[in-house]
Amino acid sequence: FDFSEDAPAAAEAAARKVKIGLYFATWWALNVVFNIYNKKVLNAFPYPWFTSTLSLAAGSLIMLVSWATRVVEPPQIDFDFLKALLPVAVAHTIGHVAATVSMSKVAVSFTHIIKSGEPAFSVLVSRFLLGEMFPLPVYLSLIPIIGGCSLAAVTELNFNMIGFMGAMISNLAFVFRNIFSKKGMKGKSVGGMNYYACLSILSLLILTPFAIAVEGPQMWADGWQQAISNIGPQFIWWVAAQSVFYHLYNQVSYMSLDEISPLTFSIGNTMKRISVIVSSIIIFHTPVQPVNALGAAIAILGTFLYSQSKQ
Ligand code: 3PG
Repeated sequence: FDFSEDAPAAAEAAARKVKIGLYFATWWALNVVFNIYNKKVLNAFPYPWFTSTLSLAAGSLIMLVSWATRVVEPPQIDFDFLKALLPVAVAHTIGHVAATVSMSKVAVSFTHIIKSGEPAFSVLVSRFLLGEMFPLPVYLSLIPIIGGCSLAAVTELNFNMIGFMGAMISNLAFVFRNIFSKKGMKGKSVGGMNYYACLSILSLLILTPFAIAVEGPQMWADGWQQAISNIGPQFIWWVAAQSVFYHLYNQVSYMSLDEISPLTFSIGNTMKRISVIVSSIIIFHTPVQPVNALGAAIAILGTFLYSQSKQ
């Protein structure tokens, strides 16, 4: 027992760690479930733009009902808040659609292996667009990240260019989203949960017309019956699960981002991908070659080296 004067401070720090630990565990678990149901939906209904719209719509609905019933206190927002939120919402929408398009074309594990390269995008964007300089070890850690992702990509049995590019675009978009979000949340009275709710609603408004423009004509041409021909009685539950879990995992991740640095956030996000990669390989019986798994392991190790060198 610590009976020193610092004991209350130590207890507070320990409680904070437990809280963040719980956030992380919840975030990863919700994300694993989201990824599984999202892929089930995409297998039966190959319209990733509409699927992405449904995830945002479910989240928006949950939050509008929570605000209306005062389960959650609605945020006090003004025009300046919305102006700052717009670039975040554009980046969130692009990152979300791109990841969903990717997962509609390739295995969930492959999308997440490529997405584990996100720290490399973070360094490159910060260096070339924001002019931030990093110590040499940070740049060196990019070698295993980029090398590992490349090895995993070239040895992927079911490689698909759209699937690969979708995951790459998603990486780039989410780097911008995280930079803009942390700036937008700093010193603002809107907490993580309501911040993500506003982000969801604005992204839904942005995405809906594009989803109709991109996939509407194709769905029309396919014929509604053809579009839903693979749908079984379980489908509606899969859609509900992927949409609700999408909202919940993002909400918890934003509640964490509110408390931690973007760096700790990105380490948590990479560890999350390990659970998604492993669980989706098991559930979907994804074929994996040893050299392919080696590439993924090198990329993930590179991310840890990156986080160490950045600290
Ligand atoms: C999405 O659909 O938005 C992506 O699956 C999310 O990717 P993330 O794992 O980076 O949150």
